Amino acid sequence: MSKKPFYITTAIAYASKKPHIGNTYEVVFTDAVARFKRMQGYDVYFLTGTDEHGLKIEELAKAEGISPKEHVDKVVAEIKEICKIMNISYDGFIRTTDEQHEKVVQKIFKKLYDNGDIYKSSYEGLYCTPCESFWTESQLVDGKCPDCGRDVETANEEAYFLKLSKYQKWLEEYIEEHPDFIVPESRKKEMLNNFIKPGLQDLCVSRTTFTWSIPVTFDPKHVIYVWLDALTNYITALGYMSDDDTLFKKYWPADLQIVGKDIIRFHGIYWPIFLMALGLPTPKKLYAHGFLMMKDGKMSKSKGNVVYPEMLVERYGLDATRYFLLKEFPYGQDAIFTPEDFVNKYNFDLCNDLGNLLNRTIGMVNKYFGGNVPNYTGRINDVDADLEEIVASKISEYENNMEDLHFSNAIESIWGIISRANKYIDETAPWTLAKQEETEKLESVMSHLVETLRIVAILIKPAMTETSNKILSQLGINEEASKEYDTIKEFGKTTSDLKVIEKGEPIFLRLDANEEIEYIKNKMKE
Ligand code: MSP
Repeated sequence: MSKKPFYITTAIAYASKKPHIGNTYEVVFTDAVARFKRMQGYDVYFLTGTDEHGLKIEELAKAEGISPKEHVDKVVAEIKEICKIMNISYDGFIRTTDEQHEKVVQKIFKKLYDNGDIYKSSYEGLYCTPCESFWTESQLVDGKCPDCGRDVETANEEAYFLKLSKYQKWLEEYIEEHPDFIVPESRKKEMLNNFIKPGLQDLCVSRTTFTWSIPVTFDPKHVIYVWLDALTNYITALGYMSDDDTLFKKYWPADLQIVGKDIIRFHGIYWPIFLMALGLPTPKKLYAHGFLMMKDGKMSKSKGNVVYPEMLVERYGLDATRYFLLKEFPYGQDAIFTPEDFVNKYNFDLCNDLGNLLNRTIGMVNKYFGGNVPNYTGRINDVDADLEEIVASKISEYENNMEDLHFSNAIESIWGIISRANKYIDETAPWTLAKQEETEKLESVMSHLVETLRIVAILIKPAMTETSNKILSQLGINEEASKEYDTIKEFGKTTSDLKVIEKGEPIFLRLDANEEIEYIKNKMKE
């Protein structure tokens, strides 16, 4: 049977500066969804990339005395390096400076013009350069850009416009009839009530005031508005309107597009209208996540509060960093990074709860059975049934949470299993069973613990790939055998004739909390 396709995307990052830990959250989150879907047997295509045109980038390059292309090449290399460090399993990486993308954006612009959805006129408005956005007087907040709070300038230019107004009614109805199109619900309401219902004005989709963008083929003093250029990446990357559109035919419409709350407006309004105007279906779901903040607000060099992902990965490992990001964000809301929280999560969740469960289990299997895991023989001890039932119910809770993108809750479901298993050791007291020579009961405890850890290792895989493999290998389970996701649905199915490692390295070493909090704080000031 052929696998069901699943197309998932992140927003494409501005190639303006090196990403910090906040910028990294989105790719890590999306990567975890992609891995979960692959594990469930979907044929996943995961796209990420970079947004490289526009005035802001032209200005940054000028200030550095290099060309815009040199500037973006440098930043894109840094962004790709971060993806590598964070073990991001993307299938495609699109750059908006890719030749194929540029050509197709030009074709898209021409098609919309030929269809009468784009027309030429002139524009006078208030423009925010850093955000590349035009605003009306009433949209400003205290006379400043409502997005970034900076000054806006009056700009007047001959320009092309896209008829957003023509599609307003359609979009309003579409969003109302498809309650899962924009999530969370609060964002959907915000789109409808604050932006769409008050009325959509036609969108200015060309500029003449700078050159670092894609020219309009039939009127080359105009360049194409960066958001039209950027949003279409999701289809140009699949070969839409190119010589080879196999991927496009297979994967479009996207199953899930993940973006930050600051840009859901572009994805929830402009993007479906562009697609409708092109005669294409809209993505099935748009999810807007929150922002990673610091106690004193946004991360910025001037505040001395920037945390870079490579620093955390180098000192605490990849999985501790990924775990923090995925656990910390409540669904659709902001999260706060504090060094205290990072270190505590490491010590309590990873080292105490998970690490100790593995160590104790490996130690006991070695001590009582010379490393050979007794085969599963059913529910022998009084608490065996309870452990098995908790495992089953937490697996289904985990699946629902993952499906609904409630990642922090999904992690809690896994930790529900871990803490039940730790309690199970105390309740069954294997040391007493050994002393009393209750071999059958002792065998059952060991097989239950190993099986529970195998299940945990599989469930944490989308979030913590390295740790998952380390646990499996310490338990003597072949990584290939663990790929069959459905094996976790029947307790005790696959843990026969295993031999655990003689002396397992601790997967997380306990940190000296004060020392490490200081370490992170100092790094933030560098
Ligand atoms: N280039 C546009 C997106 C175009 S998509 C067609 C852009 N780039 S960005 O680099 O500023 O942001 C990339 C993504 O990271 C966005 O979804 C944005 O919301 C997200 N984040 C940026 N800073 C963030 C945090 N501090 N925390 C979490 N996500 C953050 O917007």
